[in-house]
Amino acid sequence: MTNSKRDGFGSRFGVLVAVAGSAIGLGNLWRFPYLVGNNGGAAFIFVYVLIVIFLCLPIMLSEFIIGRRSQANAIGAIKKLAPKSHGWLSIGIISVAAAFFILCFYSVVGGWTLEYMVKSFSPGFLVNDNSMLSTFFQSFTSSPVLPAIMMILYLALNALIVSSGVKNGIEKYSKILMPGLFILIIILAIRSLTLPGASEGINFLFNPDFSKLSPESLLAALGQAFFSLSLGMGCIITYGSYVEKKENLMNISIITAAADTSFAILAGVAIMPAVFAFGISPGEGPGLVFITLPQIFAQMPFGNIISFIFFTILLVAALTSSISMLEVVVAYFVEELKMSRKVATIISFSVIAVFGLLCSLSLGTLKEFTIFGKNIFDFFDYTTSNIMLPIGGLLIVIFVGWKMRKSDIQDELFNGGALHFRRRLFFWIIVGIKFLAPIAITLVLLNGIGLIKLF
Ligand code: PHE
Repeated sequence: MTNSKRDGFGSRFGVLVAVAGSAIGLGNLWRFPYLVGNNGGAAFIFVYVLIVIFLCLPIMLSEFIIGRRSQANAIGAIKKLAPKSHGWLSIGIISVAAAFFILCFYSVVGGWTLEYMVKSFSPGFLVNDNSMLSTFFQSFTSSPVLPAIMMILYLALNALIVSSGVKNGIEKYSKILMPGLFILIIILAIRSLTLPGASEGINFLFNPDFSKLSPESLLAALGQAFFSLSLGMGCIITYGSYVEKKENLMNISIITAAADTSFAILAGVAIMPAVFAFGISPGEGPGLVFITLPQIFAQMPFGNIISFIFFTILLVAALTSSISMLEVVVAYFVEELKMSRKVATIISFSVIAVFGLLCSLSLGTLKEFTIFGKNIFDFFDYTTSNIMLPIGGLLIVIFVGWKMRKSDIQDELFNGGALHFRRRLFFWIIVGIKFLAPIAITLVLLNGIGLIKLF
């Protein structure tokens, strides 16, 4: 089946929306705004952007290079580029495993989002009472049946899109969903900015305060940039393998990084002014989106419509991220285990649903069951974000920087000579891939698992 025509993205716009779709996700909405506010506002954004440019772009490029060069899924790619080496294969294995495990708990949150979207219109749900909303969130997420049903529905949406293929599934839906996502977040940002008292939220976000920028902020920025750009788990390798040879990988990477960062800032503008206008203290993560924000919507005119728009944004952002994870797993099944796309999707869907169910139950019925002191949901979350993604990313840059031939890298970056070769740019990209990125990721990794205390 070598070289029988492989599915792939059909247009440049298709590539851009699909890759941006993977990058823009829950991370942008529930973590970035909070990190910015608490780490010196614009000062943090400044550092974050530097990290994205100097560390994350080399990693993203490395993943694109592996994917497009090999024209294969994350495991097949390494098999092709390093044929006789079992050690390097671990890159592919970690990637597929990380995608699988992240998808398990991401789908649980996706399910909550669906439930809150529907709930936006149910009378009595949006109340201006933090403890009631918090009790509702606790009892909903810890109950055994409803969140599980919602998780399966959410996963089914993913499966439906991915089973239709790259061009007719992922690309087609991303083309509709991503522009919609930007329009909705802009509407929400305008609404938020026009609330009386919004300026305090803008201050919280943008007032540059370099004194609040601690060494820990640096680490936070690095971890966040990594997760937000979907690096280290084979998503970009897999999507990269669907990019046509004539496309400019450097441009795609820069546009993706810019879109992801602008969306994160827009999310901050949509959320923080509203939070401050109603005098509530901003939290992060699930607490911010499932407790604080509903309390704010409750106080706004047409709050249920605003709430519905917000949870639609959350759903779409999560969905276009999780389809990229599912595609990593499905592409592996199709190409390495020679399954049809439908069968591969059904099998992945079923296995992920079982593990997703365990994650969901671990917040209630199974909460006594712990691994290294964490319930299953937190264990998956912790291990993937703090261990698997950084290790995956580290191996990827080492592989491209130290194992691949320079001429192959040059060939992918400058499209075999079709693009004007810029020697100095190439030199700096290689420096980033060979030295900067590996050193920085190693520090974050060791710090993340507590082996060294950096600061
Ligand atoms: N980038 C996504 C987000 O910000 C999450 C993600 C991580 C998606 C890794 C794919 C791979 O939510």
